[in-house]
Amino acid sequence: DLKPEMCILRQNILWQLASFREPATYKRTYGHLLVLAGSDSMPGACLMATMAAANSGCGLLTVGTLESVARAGIPLQPEAMWKAIPSIEGTLHDGILEEVESRFDDFSCILIGPGLGRTQGVQDLVKKVIETVDKPIVVDADALVPDLQEHLQARPKEFSPVVLTPHPGEWKRIGGETFEDSGASSLTQFCQRNRCIVILKGPRTRIANAFNVYLSPFGGPVLARGGTGDLLAGMVSSLLSQDPKNPTSAATLATVWHGRAADCLARARGNWAVRTTLLLDFLPEALGFKH
Ligand code: APR
Ligand code: MG
Repeated sequence: DLKPEMCILRQNILWQLASFREPATYKRTYGHLLVLAGSDSMPGACLMATMAAANSGCGLLTVGTLESVARAGIPLQPEAMWKAIPSIEGTLHDGILEEVESRFDDFSCILIGPGLGRTQGVQDLVKKVIETVDKPIVVDADALVPDLQEHLQARPKEFSPVVLTPHPGEWKRIGGETFEDSGASSLTQFCQRNRCIVILKGPRTRIANAFNVYLSPFGGPVLARGGTGDLLAGMVSSLLSQDPKNPTSAATLATVWHGRAADCLARARGNWAVRTTLLLDFLPEALGFKH
């Protein structure tokens, strides 16, 4: 019987991130991530994804966003390079691709989605990135547009992989089944049809590629607050920028790392009186380093 089964992830997969880096490496060894995120009304999602990426190892980080978002973000995340354009209808649009064009060959991964909003300009940008850009792409939040499956199927077969990070509502919007019905066979078939990897988020997050489904038992209700999904998107794309040929590895490692950090946070500070970005302070502890 070739039916895929759900394999439960263990925390020891994180050893790869806890080991020391090779001495003779430099920043370009660790990738260059481009984050396309934020809108006039949702700057925070872009900032949280950017902060998470900056705390999870990528060598270089560029944020392509709106001027309003960059003004707020630069003092909070000076490690990132900020490229900004004026909004149209309050959101980002494909004009941002010209703004980052001079560095484009440099990028090893693109994250698109957190806080983008839902205008036509955003939909056109998402279509263009998925159908014409040959880079590993992580698609989260508002970039999970209703026509996403069409865009994925129009993406040339030889292009790099795409990782989707929907919560159950976004999963439904892009044509997935209910969370309960999204068993192993259904998830792997979706991934085969659309040539993608899916991180279906929930209290027991499922990660699927065309052949296997993995389940993360980590993370608890401390994650039930706005912005934790933006942090995960930043972490997945940061790891993928460092190892662009291994999307399943980036997806499983980031999910377990995020969940373990949430467990460390809850153990140290409880579930209630914490803010989302405090999770980032527990990323080293989740790898076994002392807090
Ligand atoms: N146990 C374990 N993990 C959980 C739990 C729980 N009880 N609750 C939430 N999580 C985890 C999920 O697995 C996921 O990794 O927290 C993260 C939540 O991610 P999202 O649902 O994407 O939430 P986020 O993007 O931070 O904020 C909500 O999504 O519906 C949209 O626009 C809406 O701004 C809103 C945003
Ligand atoms: Mg989200």
